[in-house]
Amino acid sequence: MQEVLESGQLTMGPKVAELEELLAAACGVEQAVAVSSGTAALHLAVLALGLEEGDEVLVPAYTFPATANVVALAGARPVLVDVDPSTLNLDPAKVYDAVTSRTRAVLAVHLFGRPLDWEQLQNALPPDVRLLEDAAGALGARWRGMPCGGLGEMGCLSFHPRKIVTTGEGGAVTTSSDDLADAIRRMRHHGIEPRGDFEIAEPGLNYRLSDILCAVGIPQLRRLKELLAARRSVAERYEERLREIEGVDLPSADKGDTHGWQAYVVRLDRAQEAIPALREQGIEAQIGTYALHRLAAFRDQGEFLGASAAFDRAMALPFHTQLTDGELDRVVEAVAAFASE
Ligand SMILES: Cc1ncc(COP(=O)(O)O)c(C=O)c1O
Repeated sequence: MQEVLESGQLTMGPKVAELEELLAAACGVEQAVAVSSGTAALHLAVLALGLEEGDEVLVPAYTFPATANVVALAGARPVLVDVDPSTLNLDPAKVYDAVTSRTRAVLAVHLFGRPLDWEQLQNALPPDVRLLEDAAGALGARWRGMPCGGLGEMGCLSFHPRKIVTTGEGGAVTTSSDDLADAIRRMRHHGIEPRGDFEIAEPGLNYRLSDILCAVGIPQLRRLKELLAARRSVAERYEERLREIEGVDLPSADKGDTHGWQAYVVRLDRAQEAIPALREQGIEAQIGTYALHRLAAFRDQGEFLGASAAFDRAMALPFHTQLTDGELDRVVEAVAAFASE
């Protein structure tokens, strides 16, 4: 950060390119474009699809609302698709059922860092439907050995503080398409051509990430494996303590996959009672994420039983690498009091 400040080049400088190179390598793609948030990444990725009014994009009914918001803001229709309440990811059978002649793309989430089964997703969709990843919480995660954020035509990452690599606010779009990367670069910088003069063929935004923030992210990215191992170790210490408790379902990944451990979200019948009770005891439990069909913006799409069950039963436990054994014991004891008899 000091180097950036002394250089005088606070944005669109060499740290942006350095961060982008590390991100592309981490996701196994040709290009990464750093932007100001995960939401900005999703917004630009969806805009780059060139959707028209009436076009449909499939999104999970249980996800952070940005996944669906950006589709609506791009002038298309986010079509909610139910999730499997045991994986919390899109249910492939429901994806298959949701496809219409207007379906242009799917924005698939690896929720909380659990890799979505990419093959099942592909098999559920006609070949002309474009596959995008909301990998906001999945940097470092791998599906069958392949990095999340590199599975779809574009991947969207977030560097919000609850993510494995954080710049306070920040995000990136990953892709191996030069054309898409150029389009994203143009749109993050007012529509100005990445190479060439100051001509603006189409209007763009300012979604840039400053060199100061890129400098915060670079050393973390270099330590990505180490950071992931530290998070995995906290997950294992939770699991050792929680696995004997009847009625509490623990997060996991499919065999052969690597969980990204963005959050540690358990499932239990009394989660909605447990969350305020744990908070009362000074334990920062949270909801997992949102059931979009229960929000006013998306309520017109009906009931989604999987997403309702996911929301009602999910509870995110405190999750960071400084948690002590004593703190974990305390959290687990508090959770146990709400496990079903
Ligand atoms: C699945 C998912 N998508 C999108 C976002 C939005 O990312 P950001 O907060 O960086 O805008 C988040 C995180 O907050 C997320 O968890």
